[in-house]
Amino acid sequence: MTLPNQTKQWKALEQLADSISGQHMRDWFGADSGRAQRYTTSACGIKLDYSKNLINQDVLAGLFDLVESQQVSAKRDAMFNGEIINHTEQRAVLHTALRNFSGKPVMVDGQDVMPEVMATQDKIRNFVEAIHSGAHKGYTGKSIKHIVSIGIGGSFLGPKIMSEALKPYWYDGVTVHYVANVDGCHITDVLSGLDHEDTLVVMSSKSFTTQETLQNTLTAKQWFLNSGGSQQDIAKHFVAVSSNVKAATDFGMDENNIFPMWDWVGGRYSLWSAIGLPVALTMGYDNYRAILEGAYDMDQHFQNEPLETNLPVLLAVLGIWYVNFHGAQSHVLLPYYHYLRGFPAYVQQLDMESNGKNIAGQKDPIDYATGPVIWGSEGTNGQHSFHQLIHQGKVMIPADFMLPLNVPNQDDTHHAMLASNCFGQTQALMQGKTYEECYADLDGKGLDEATRASLATHKTMPGNKPSNTFLFDQLDPKTLGALVALYEHKVFVQGAIWGVNSFDQWGVELGKELGNQVLDKIVNTDADLDFDASTNQLISAFRQANN
Ligand code: F6P
Repeated sequence: MTLPNQTKQWKALEQLADSISGQHMRDWFGADSGRAQRYTTSACGIKLDYSKNLINQDVLAGLFDLVESQQVSAKRDAMFNGEIINHTEQRAVLHTALRNFSGKPVMVDGQDVMPEVMATQDKIRNFVEAIHSGAHKGYTGKSIKHIVSIGIGGSFLGPKIMSEALKPYWYDGVTVHYVANVDGCHITDVLSGLDHEDTLVVMSSKSFTTQETLQNTLTAKQWFLNSGGSQQDIAKHFVAVSSNVKAATDFGMDENNIFPMWDWVGGRYSLWSAIGLPVALTMGYDNYRAILEGAYDMDQHFQNEPLETNLPVLLAVLGIWYVNFHGAQSHVLLPYYHYLRGFPAYVQQLDMESNGKNIAGQKDPIDYATGPVIWGSEGTNGQHSFHQLIHQGKVMIPADFMLPLNVPNQDDTHHAMLASNCFGQTQALMQGKTYEECYADLDGKGLDEATRASLATHKTMPGNKPSNTFLFDQLDPKTLGALVALYEHKVFVQGAIWGVNSFDQWGVELGKELGNQVLDKIVNTDADLDFDASTNQLISAFRQANN
């Protein structure tokens, strides 16, 4: 394939980056009163102000040319049409079918998958209603009050952040606890506060082979049996979401309580499948369905909106602009909303597992940067720690700020302060503060000239730091669904431009393989250690400490 950096569109962007270097966004805002309005667009309950970016009309046109040259629209259609775009695993990529409310079929291998998708949605609804109404009872006749959701990666992060983000919509009477880490403290802490008679465990694992999830589920099973439950009672207290039905029934689960998944749904895109069951249990089926509807709206927007106002495309090209033409190596997400605090961790897996790749097409080594490091945390906390580096550090860190304009049950004073900090940060990043302004501020402070000049230098803020600001009327289920789908499609567009397969994750496999070999040597304490000297030494230290 022709790598993107070999195209004339890429070269043109390199020249555009040179042509704007030395210019300042502060001056662009000063000279152009229409800038903010021109670079603001809305869809699906999300308003995006992208005016505080290092862009002008020429840059945007150049970026859209790059999108066209990499046939992003054709690649997008191939995904929605169920073509085998995950070529290293020979799979279609159809998480969009899980939220397809068009009434139209979606074909995989000549078969419409929609009847199965809708049957699974019905199964989720019926199960949630049975739990919430008390119709599904534990083995001693108690209603279920606690759900322990066990899964990791995509079988954890999506459901967890959705549950967290939609706290104002929680169903009263059932509490959902999420466990991912194989570190035994987590599952032990969660189970120690629970009564096994009113607890339901949802084991979420597409493969039913993931070490962490299996071990945590076995520990939960042991806890259940030790607390008085029997093997045959397990069916009432353990359900699974998995494509491996046999492994789940072998475990003791009732076949009727196994929620299916399919090969054409990738792990980090699976929250729209029955992996979302804990979300539906947290807030009721109608709210869960509204999340899917919001994502569907974003799918429509992504497929039909022109490039210039297409939110996923805009986010994607802005990211590419900084990663490939300004040397940015990371991207920070800053939700100014406590309930959305898990969103950076969710996007971390979505983006880094999808586009952290070094081969384009079938086998071409890549010599340009691909997926950036994604990180971040809730505002305003970050302002009192890492924002310093974003403001005055030597690396460019593009930022996504997000804020709901209305929040249920919140004190107005707190919300106004939160908003003012959010907007103030984007302003400071953009305009900075000049040496002259800082020097003038120090007038009358009793400083000698050398000290005043030195201090003014340290206080100078370069500005010209890019950021996007997202505003939501309210972060309701529909808007959250749209927001998550927006980032999914952003990642898709970037992967399409870079020419990578965004849907495999071979990089995580070697670690799993070696981890198992090491476990073998840790457990079999007499086995010879034949790894490298460092690994042997670490295993010996562990053996010694645990014998
Ligand atoms: O380790 C990577 C991964 O395969 C992720 O892509 C996935 O989300 C996670 O593990 C969990 O996999 P499973 O649902 O099969 O347990």
